Amino acid sequence: KISYYNGEFKNDDEVTVDYNDRAFYFGDGVYEVVRVYNNEFFTLEEHMDRLVRSASEIGIDNLDRSRMVEIVTQLNEKNNIDNGSIYIQVSRGIGKRNHAYPLDKSPVVLAYMNEISRPTAQMEDGISTITADDYRWLKCHVKSLNLLANVMEKERAVRAGAHETILHRDGVVTEGSSTNVFIVKDGVLRTHPADNMILNGITRLEVLKVAEARNIPYEEKAFTVDELMDADEIFITSTTQEVTPVTEVDKKTVANGSKGEVTHAIQEGFDEKIH
Ligand code: PDD
Repeated sequence: KISYYNGEFKNDDEVTVDYNDRAFYFGDGVYEVVRVYNNEFFTLEEHMDRLVRSASEIGIDNLDRSRMVEIVTQLNEKNNIDNGSIYIQVSRGIGKRNHAYPLDKSPVVLAYMNEISRPTAQMEDGISTITADDYRWLKCHVKSLNLLANVMEKERAVRAGAHETILHRDGVVTEGSSTNVFIVKDGVLRTHPADNMILNGITRLEVLKVAEARNIPYEEKAFTVDELMDADEIFITSTTQEVTPVTEVDKKTVANGSKGEVTHAIQEGFDEKIH
């Protein structure tokens, strides 16, 4: 496979990265994961907009959006992947370790592709999850490379034999370690509002568009862990997890232990967007 780092396309096994890349020292950068279906990017515009926004939020100004699009487009042409994803990260730049930004702030771009298939089994059967305290920083709307809390809390799920960790602040559900969380109660779909406490997922936004189109009432309003446990349906969303039902939380069966009707309708609507 061909990857891209700091201006060059190379074979995967020939890519070497600069150890003074601030992505290493500080996680000083931002990233995106974009899905490829049938050799085409899904919602690329939205992901590129968010990349530029995240960059600007951390003071990487004027990121060349068209250059980013060019890199991912070229990479897709070179790798010719049918179904997979592309990872693109932008670090602040290269410079000796110093908390203050280097004078020369040329961003460094890394990008590569993966072949992945759709998570069809879990989209039918659902997954188990655990809950955990959300102790992340207060700029979760930035898709930062700094994912220490996310990886530590995801790992606890894996060790508990679960698939994802649902985070909450003082009992209010924010999002998953790498997903957004939705519940359905009495026919109404609910998810945390897109503020600084969550990443405004592109899949989240697509789900809300499907709800709109299918006349499924929805609210962007936070809910508690108690409301989660008591929900009629629960699902998580992300670029790679798509729309995946949750059937277990903290070892307890939730949402009747199976995929619900509204979740099914949302999955159908999402499917139509892909094909
Ligand atoms: N994660 N919330 C968090 C904290 C995330 O890391 C992600 C995505 C999402 C869902 O966003 P989207 O629908 O745009 O993928 C929500 C990516 C896939 C990752 O880190 O691999």
